[in-house]
Amino acid sequence: MDINSIPVITIDGPSASGKGTIAQLVAKKLGFHYLDSGALYRLVALKALQADINISDENKLAKIAATLDVFFENDQIYLENKLVTDKIRTEECGVMASKLASFPRVRESLIVRQRAFRQPPGLVTDGRDMGSVIFPDALLKVFLTASAEIRAQRRYKQLIEKGINASIVELQRGIQKRDERDSKRSVAPLQQSSDARLLDTTSLSILQAQNCVLEWYRECCTSERV
Ligand code: DC
Repeated sequence: MDINSIPVITIDGPSASGKGTIAQLVAKKLGFHYLDSGALYRLVALKALQADINISDENKLAKIAATLDVFFENDQIYLENKLVTDKIRTEECGVMASKLASFPRVRESLIVRQRAFRQPPGLVTDGRDMGSVIFPDALLKVFLTASAEIRAQRRYKQLIEKGINASIVELQRGIQKRDERDSKRSVAPLQQSSDARLLDTTSLSILQAQNCVLEWYRECCTSERV
């Protein structure tokens, strides 16, 4: 089978924009595989924190990325056979992931691993450079965003529901800092590519956003057949 004929939907966007939630829902609806590329960067961060690797040591971080012993099963993530699904979601891992993601060699080490998720019948993936670098031939590319205020409010709600204390002001500050770092790096920066469709979810529900992506996907399939 020609791997390039397997349809891919990429959903890129800033942190806490809801792209993971939407990507997972769309993948479920279509019966497609799902890749959370941010989780890979977070896994490198977790492993680096555990091994006490300096954040400026690009070589060691790239080696961790290249040799990461990870597997994904349903909604769970295992690093070296240990369940780390919640562990990689901490703010510490997110910030570390954002920092090490600016190293070209770290990014390069993760390319093959990410492309391997392209399996029949299709793939939905979310991240920062899914449409621009990893799957440039994706059938549908979405750039999903929302205002920083709304993203902070959504993250706040998630944390409170999990019983974790948080401050909206602090969360918004953290989100804006991460946006800035992810957008300003020289390699694969977070930006809407010219062939990606913009989906601003500031005033949309999860269901509305999901349906919009599904509708766009159907349009892409129809125009491909014509
Ligand atoms: O999507 P996330 O918040 O889980 O991602 C964590 C960090 O990983 C993010 O701040 C930047 C980096 N990342 C990246 O550089 N490229 C991707 N495709 C996904 C994530």
